[in-house]
Formats: sequence, structure tokens, C-alpha cells
Amino acid sequence: MKKVWKMFFAAMFALLMSIPTFAAGRLSVQIGNFTSFKETPNGVLISADNAKLSLTVYGPEVVRVRATQGDFSDLPSYAVIGQPTGKFTSVKDESDKLVLSTGELTVEVNKNPIIVRFYNKDGKLLNEDEKGLGISWLGTGTTCYKKLQPDERFIGLGEKTGNLDRRGSAYEDWNTDHYGYPDNADPLYTSLPFYIGLHNNLSYGIFFDNTYKATFNFGASNNRFSSFGAVDGEMNYYFFGGNSVAELLKEYTGLTGRMKMPPMWGLGFQQCRWSYFPDTEVLNLARTFREKKIPADVIYLDIHYMDAYKVFTWNKERFPNPSAMIDSLKDMGFHVVTIVDPGVKKEKGYRAYESGLKNDCFVKYPDGINWAADVWPGTCNFPDFTNPKVRTWWGDLYKGLVSDGVTGFWNDMNEPASWGNMVPNLVEFDMEGHKGTMEEAHNIYGMQMARSTYEGAAKLMNGKRPLVLTRAAYAGVQRYSAIWTGDNVASDDHMLLASRLINSMGLAGVPFVGADIGGFTGKTTPDLFARWLSIATYTPFFRSHSEYNSRAHEPWTFGEDVEAISRKYINERYQMLPYIYSAFDEAHETGMPIARSLAINYTFDKNIYNPDFQDEYLFGPSILVAPVSSKQMFERVYLPEGSWYRKSTGKKYDGGQSVIVDAPLSDLPVFVKASAIIPMQSTVQNTAQKGDGILRLHIYSGSRPNKYLYYEDDGTTYQYQDGHFLRREFVFDPAAKKITIGKAEGNYTSKFNKIEIVLHGFDGMNSVKVGRKTMNLQKGEGNTQTLTLDAGKGETVLSW
Ligand code: GLC
Repeated sequence: MKKVWKMFFAAMFALLMSIPTFAAGRLSVQIGNFTSFKETPNGVLISADNAKLSLTVYGPEVVRVRATQGDFSDLPSYAVIGQPTGKFTSVKDESDKLVLSTGELTVEVNKNPIIVRFYNKDGKLLNEDEKGLGISWLGTGTTCYKKLQPDERFIGLGEKTGNLDRRGSAYEDWNTDHYGYPDNADPLYTSLPFYIGLHNNLSYGIFFDNTYKATFNFGASNNRFSSFGAVDGEMNYYFFGGNSVAELLKEYTGLTGRMKMPPMWGLGFQQCRWSYFPDTEVLNLARTFREKKIPADVIYLDIHYMDAYKVFTWNKERFPNPSAMIDSLKDMGFHVVTIVDPGVKKEKGYRAYESGLKNDCFVKYPDGINWAADVWPGTCNFPDFTNPKVRTWWGDLYKGLVSDGVTGFWNDMNEPASWGNMVPNLVEFDMEGHKGTMEEAHNIYGMQMARSTYEGAAKLMNGKRPLVLTRAAYAGVQRYSAIWTGDNVASDDHMLLASRLINSMGLAGVPFVGADIGGFTGKTTPDLFARWLSIATYTPFFRSHSEYNSRAHEPWTFGEDVEAISRKYINERYQMLPYIYSAFDEAHETGMPIARSLAINYTFDKNIYNPDFQDEYLFGPSILVAPVSSKQMFERVYLPEGSWYRKSTGKKYDGGQSVIVDAPLSDLPVFVKASAIIPMQSTVQNTAQKGDGILRLHIYSGSRPNKYLYYEDDGTTYQYQDGHFLRREFVFDPAAKKITIGKAEGNYTSKFNKIEIVLHGFDGMNSVKVGRKTMNLQKGEGNTQTLTLDAGKGETVLSW
């Protein structure tokens, strides 16, 4: 009898034990309890009940976390170019946890269940898995749940609508062509899955490197966790422990790469429309800019330049002699950028198509039939940009355009977009020989297209820098291309949103970004255009664009007032080029964006997250821009700690408060930080002009010392990589009453032979000593005093 009961209980027990296994397909599975671990060349590999967890050191403050229920994937990352370096310098196996340290960062892995916690050098908790949830799987999907810290804020994640502080919101990454998107739409065109968490004066970063459709939850509909996850693929994220936003951006861009120096002409004003044709209209447009003395550098050709929208062709009626037209434009100081979409029209005899077929370049259904979908040219096939061979093939197709003189390439529709906007998920890709489906390749398609374009064009252009612009992107795209924010709308809300999108992309490692000035779709008003252009003057990528059949968007088509406002701002843009170019050098060297959300410099000032002030940002290190609706002629502006000067009037304000300021359309609220050093030049009509040869060094009085690193190179080639650049430090030391123009480093000779010091707010100062010689200051424009010196190459010290 006893035995029977025993057998009965044993059977019941076995049945009960089988339930979780049975349910595993429907319920989530957590990583489970620790079973063992071993050290690997750059970290540790931990085995647990339900999965493996690997921790790899990529730098003292960068640790990669991977978890899988099966085997780890060996597909190389499209985003990451950094390599694992170093290892945990201390590995302690304690009864309830593993304690791993790099010296800068401590990773604690709780054993039962497995939970990962990150601490900084001072032992402060930066981030921890949510105890009961941790890393989970639900079907093929994987998610990492992080405990919400008290008052935790989240910033970044790239091209996302919503507030600067993303707490309480959730987002999806799935590159989407969203024509005329509402100002709260998600997802948009790009996936830049890097965000920064902030709490208790601490900061950390997380980059979730998984290209499948991904979701980020920053405490939306819950007050327990933040999370990131994807519908498939591996749990694969990098944790960054830098102790400032700038440090985190440096680490993140150290891992995913930084932009190369852009062509200087790509920083000028760019005029686009869908579409300028025929050639006579393009030439007229260029002439009008010159006649009206509105500086500009670039004219875009949208889809109508092509024969029946077929990429890599010209419409022979509209553009009978493209290279002659481009030569004339060059003579007027203009560059030409042409649009190139990924869809290759299926048409017998069409070269790009035939060679794509011959070389087997198009993505296919599992049965071997090329995926075909309709876009502008009609039915198209789509190159597989995840195949290195196809990237080279595509890059070489630019030969014709390059030999016609085109220097910039605009990759659009590369989400990829097609009519119906629904890509079949089972379409197959090469994925660098690893094979995968659209589900995995979709979010990197645009980036790999931009890569192939960049690599092809750079190879073909004889050492000159191409400009590449893309609509879709994935993390790391900054190595190849600029981004614009797609088909926005002519509205004040969209104009203000553009600043947030641009700043947020900067927070996700992409510095060269802009939005269509005036709005792509909808009817812009003269006021909106004027305001938008004035704000965009202070954005990295400065382009006006509008859709087919829209009203004209050239600056002179809105009446004399708007023309004058546009000229004033575009002139200012060109005057600021030395400052802007030096900011690009900083982006190139450190990953610091050009348009800097105030969260970079004033991270723990809660006022900057106030929705009333969240659109404000710094353009470069010391110019604060406060975007204002075109309907409002005054604005409440928040000025962070320190002192500030209104750029247009020189009026000084104390920071740490909000102030109401005038904001007529002709005078956007723009402020300069006290102690700022801003190099500027004379007005030029395009970036190739030398101007008057004087570098104007604007210095704003202030009580804090300041250093500025000035950068110059030829603006067009890659010779800067071989030392052909000039770097010069300018130092303002108010306590020592000294300005130092440092020694010129590098072997490039500046285009400026004079330096004019322009002093702002140094009231009552009449002379300075240059070395031992006393020199009188001249009265400059506004309330400034000036002094002109030979630029020289050595150090010059001014004192008073
Ligand atoms: C897409 C682009 C837009 C372009 C248009 C025609 O909508 O986003 O910028 O003008 O296609 O090519």
C-alpha cells in the first residue's frame, strides 16, 4: 500500500514537473539560476538554468552583455567597429554572486537568479536588472528588464518624437517611410538604439545591438522597469559607465565609429526641391542665388533628373548635357547632389538592372525569385546591401554620376520603402554570408546602402570627400552619411520637433543631421519659412526642401522681408563656418554632436527637461539657440547657470533663470555663453571663397577661464588624415587677464593671414599688451573693441 502511494506521488510529481516545460512555449522564460562560469580571453561566460550569459570587456567602462538560450551568433555587428580590449582585472566568485571589476566599473552577477548590476568606481549603483524579470524570452523575442531608479530620466534613442526626457514613453525601432508623419509618430526612418539613463547625479549608457524590430520601454504603463528587447535575435547590449553625457558619447562613438570630416561645402546652404528641372531652371536657380547675394553651395536634383526614375540614368530631354550643366554650376560655386533610391527598375536592356541580374545582386524570396515591389519607377528589384559583393557593385554604379561631376549622393526610400509599405519578412539576405531574412536585415538596409554609396563614391572621387545623405539608418551610420528627418510637415510644431529630433540623433552618435526647412509637405507661410530658416542656420545640415507641387521654397519667393531675413541668417551661417567646422572636428575626434541638447552640459538641471524649454540646445560649445514658434514674437527662454549674452544685441543675462525676450522673425533668441571664444569669418557667397583673409575671434567677457580648439584643413580632401590640418588653441583667462593664441599645430597653412580679436563686454578697456607692446583697441561693430594681428604660426599673448 505504502509503495502504491509512493508511486502515485512520484507520478503526480513528474506530472507537475512537466507543466513548466509544457508552458515554456507560451509563458516567458527567465535566465534562471547560476550553474557555473569560466573566464574567457576578455571576460567571463556564465551558464545558468535556461541560458548562457557572456560578459566581455570592450574598455574600462564598456562591457558587452550577451545572453542566449542556444548558441551565440557569429554574425559580425554592422554597428560596432571597436574590439574587446583588456579583461576583468578582478574576478571574485562569492557564494551568492560573481563580482567582476575593470577598475572603473564593477559588474555584479547575482547567482540565484541571475541578475546583473553595474557599479561605478565609487561603488555607486548605476544600473541593475529588475530582480524578478532580468533577461527574459517570450517565444523568439528577448527583453532585458532594468529596475527603474528613483527619478530616473532617459535621453537619446535617436530620431524619436516626444519629450527630451523619455521617461514614461515607449518606442519601437523599425525603419519606416512615414510621409507627413504626425509630430508624435513612432517609428520613423532610422534605428539608433543607444540611450542614456540619468539618476542621482549618475549617468550610464546602453546600446542594444540587435537589428530585429525592437521595443524600448522607459517606464511606459508601468512603474517597475525600463526595458529593451527585440522580436528575435540575441540579447546583446553594451553597457557604458562614463560619468558624464559627453564621456558616454565618446565611449559609444569609440565603439560604433565617428564621422569623417565632411566636405566643407556640405556645411553651406543647400537648396532642394522635388524637383528642379530642366537644366535651364537649375542654372537660373544658381544665378538667382548669386544675383541676390544669398550664399549657397548646393543644388539637389530629385527624382525627375532621371529617365523614368531609373537610378543611374539622366533624362536626356531635361538634362541633355549634365556634365556641361554641372561645370557651369561649378563655375558659379555650386555642387550638385543627386537622389539615388535603392529600387532598380525591372526593365529589359536597362544597364543597372541587367548588371544586377547578371551579378545576382537582388534580394530573393526563399524560392529564388527576386523580391519585386513598386516604387517611383514602377516594379523594382532591390539590391542586397548586406552582401559585400553587392555593395561593391552598387558603389561602382556611381561612376557615371561622378564623371559627370556630381559630388553628393542622396539615398532615399531605403527603409526600404515601397508602395504598400509592407516588406515581406521572409525575403532573404546574404548578411555577410551568414544568411538572414528581412526581419533581421530591414533596420540595417538603409545604413548598408549608405555605406556602399559612401565607399563607392569615395573610391571614385580621387581623394575628394563625397557628401552622402540617407533617410534610413542604423547605429554606426555616422561613419558614412548625414541624415535628414524625412517627410516632415510645414507646421510650427514640426519645426520645434525638428530641433528635438536633431538633438536626439546627436545624443545617439549621429552629428550631421538636419530637417527640411519650411516643411516638406503642407503649405508653409512666409513667417514659418523665415523662422524655420533662422533656426536651421544653427543646425548641422542646412537644407531647404519641399515636395512636388508645393509652393516655391526659395528664400526670395516669400516677399522682400523674408528674403532679407533669409539673407541675414544665411550670411551669418557662412560667417560662423570656422566655428562650425571646428565643431565638426570635435565630432570627428570625440563624437560630441554639433547640435547639443542641453542635457549634455546641464544634465542634472531639471529645468532643461521642462517641455517649455526642452527644444533649446547649444550649437557648438557656446551658442544657445531657443527655437520659437513663428506665431510668437516673444519667448520665455531658460538660460542655464552662468552668464549669457544675447548674440544680436550684446545684452547680458544672468543664467539659472528663465527670461522673457523679444523674438521677432528677424531676431531668433540666440545667446552666447560668457567667456565664449567664437571664430568667424567675413561673409562669403560659397564655402570655396576665401573671404577677406581675416579670422575674427569673438571673445565674450566672463569670469571663467575658457579654452577653444580651432581647426582648419583644406575642406575637400582626406589629406587631413596625414597631418595636413591646422589646430590652434585659443585660451581666455580672465583671472590672469590674458588671451593666448596658441602655436599652430599641423602642417596646413591657414587661409587666414590676419586674426582680428573682437572683444564683447570688455567695457572701458582701451588697449592691450601684445607681448610687451601696448596696442590701442579700435571701436568695432555694436559694443565691441577690436585689434587686428598677423595670424602667424607662433604663440601670441594679449594681456591687460
Ligand atoms: C521621398 C523623400 C523626399 C523626396 C521624395 C521624392 O518622399 O523623403 O525627400 O523629395 O521622396 O524623391
